[in-house]
Amino acid sequence: MTLPAGSSVTNSSSAPRTVLDFDRVTLGYGDFTVLANLSMSVHAGEVVAVMGGSGSGKTTLMRAATGQLGVKAGELKVFDKSLRDVGRVELERLRQRMGVLFQHGALLTDLDVFENVAFPLREHTRLTEAEIAQKVLHNLDAVGLRAAAHLKLSEVSGGMARRVALARAIVREPELVFYDEPFAGLDPISMGIAARLIRSLSDKLGCASVVITHDVPESFEIADTVYIVGQGELKASGTPASLNESQDPYVRQFLDGAPDGPVAFDYPLTDAFEKWCQAKGVKP
Ligand SMILES: Nc1ncnc2c1ncn2[C@@H]1O[C@H](COP(=O)(O)OP(=O)(O)OP(=O)(O)O)[C@@H](O)[C@H]1O
Ligand SMILES: [Mg+2]
Repeated sequence: MTLPAGSSVTNSSSAPRTVLDFDRVTLGYGDFTVLANLSMSVHAGEVVAVMGGSGSGKTTLMRAATGQLGVKAGELKVFDKSLRDVGRVELERLRQRMGVLFQHGALLTDLDVFENVAFPLREHTRLTEAEIAQKVLHNLDAVGLRAAAHLKLSEVSGGMARRVALARAIVREPELVFYDEPFAGLDPISMGIAARLIRSLSDKLGCASVVITHDVPESFEIADTVYIVGQGELKASGTPASLNESQDPYVRQFLDGAPDGPVAFDYPLTDAFEKWCQAKGVKP
């Protein structure tokens, strides 16, 4: 793969360019705050893992970074532009420089494997048919699915569909890629291949990768920096080695997968649930 035109791994100084920057950002839906006061930055060429229990706000964080969800407080910059200041057209331009692997597939079920991966190229580029074929097959090859190009989506397994989605997220060689649970449903071999592919895209193309995952071994293997979110805030961040040494009870429970400790398993009680119980005539 070659570096996309107009992109560069570093800026004029030697420090890598900051591609994504959350500065004391608060996120949520309506009155419900999911994450408060979050600071996090991602640089060109870096792989950042975002980890945390179910419902801790990882997908929410990605929605904010892609401009699908506004911030409640703080400043969120993508490619040095504050998302608060950008209009619809500029947001669309910024999004064109990003790739997203959605947590729930979002593949087009009436298209075959090849056309699913070709879709972003047809939508956003003026490449010839031969160039599209070359790029799509190259990316399918990288996820081990070149010979599955002709299959209908209904003919591929769950793990294969995940790999198709991965190929589609990176086919345009974006400068910033979000992978929401890229390893879900993959067997150990595919998981290792997917992890190495993510690392190599950052190494070879200088793209910034944000990997949202529960998978500790795979992400610790490839991440430069790991952020752990929980209980409505950033709990810890650092290199995989420094987090492995951490004695923080939250970090330890998360990394060790212990059933008891500060990491909440139950969804919290809310007024909305209590009201729903009242209307239904059941006890909260
Ligand atoms: N559209 C929405 N409207 C209201 N609340 C939402 C919405 N989407 C998510 N939430 C709530 O926000 C919280 C964080 O959800 P989010 O999907 O970001 O979690 P997550 O960390 O990605 O979890 P998982 O690991 O299970 O995917 C949850 O309490 C969820 O119920
Ligand atoms: Mg999620």
